[in-house]
Amino acid sequence: MNKISRPVRLEYTNIVKKYGKGKKAKAILNDINLKLEGGECTLITGKNGCGKSTLLRIMGGLLKPDSGMINTGLHTLNWNKYRKAVGNDVMYLYQEPYMFDGTVRENLGYALDNKQNTQIIDKALKWAELEHRSDTQAKCLSGGERQRVALAQAWIKQPAVLLLDEPTANMDTEHRLRTESFLSTFIDSGTALYIASHDPNHFHRIMNHRLVIKDGYISDFNESDLNESEHTGSNNDQDVGVLTGESLLQSNKNVTLFPQNKTLNFSSQDNKQ
Ligand SMILES: Nc1ncnc2c1ncn2[C@@H]1O[C@H](COP(=O)(O)OP(=O)(O)OP(=O)(O)O)[C@@H](O)[C@H]1O
Ligand SMILES: [Mg+2]
Repeated sequence: MNKISRPVRLEYTNIVKKYGKGKKAKAILNDINLKLEGGECTLITGKNGCGKSTLLRIMGGLLKPDSGMINTGLHTLNWNKYRKAVGNDVMYLYQEPYMFDGTVRENLGYALDNKQNTQIIDKALKWAELEHRSDTQAKCLSGGERQRVALAQAWIKQPAVLLLDEPTANMDTEHRLRTESFLSTFIDSGTALYIASHDPNHFHRIMNHRLVIKDGYISDFNESDLNESEHTGSNNDQDVGVLTGESLLQSNKNVTLFPQNKTLNFSSQDNKQ
């Protein structure tokens, strides 16, 4: 896996998200502030329904917050501008990745910009230990295998920021530990990892920071939070697969968050907000 040559540092400030309208509006996230650094892994934990997926979707450019700003180190962007700049730099992996019709190999091909480059697919299959599944119909895979295909797609794309929503929720211990090893290669290559998990005891081998969302606010996790999190309830993520900001950006292919030359491709007008 190549090293990410793009500088990765994002700061999200005053993120607020409410669901519902008028008097029925309920704030799920209140004034959330957090930083994201390349080569570091942050675990976001908290009870079912506390807002972990909501926060990751906002960070992934998939869900619009009611307010909030994002600083890239060079520019301060509102979410609309951020969403347009996300491109291939930020990738969000759903808990239950959607597989398209076709084989595992063909599904990996969808992650390729250059469809002719089949060598990288072979490498990705090997990396994710999926070689024996190469010609299997992807829709026939188990949940854990689908998650490995999704990780292999991320491995091909090498995003600067990888957001993982309960990536091991349905895995046995062996596969969870193996997945942690896969994830450590992203960290080594300079990717910023953000993992949402309702279980604060997972990922301790690879995480640098552990945060908790409680009553709409985010804070450092401490031992007293352990007592409150002894449950393994379900996740309400939809079966909608690996999405990148790319799919939202059909008409914005020329913008990127972390260009190699460090010059963001926004017009000066874009940055006045
Ligand atoms: N589109 C929506 N409309 C209304 N309420 C929503 C919507 N999406 C999520 N919610 C609510 O917002 C709250 C936070 O949901 P979210 O999925 O972010 O929680 P979570 O921390 O990821 O939970 P889990 O651990 O179960 O995955 C929940 O109460 C949920 O029901
Ligand atoms: Mg969730």
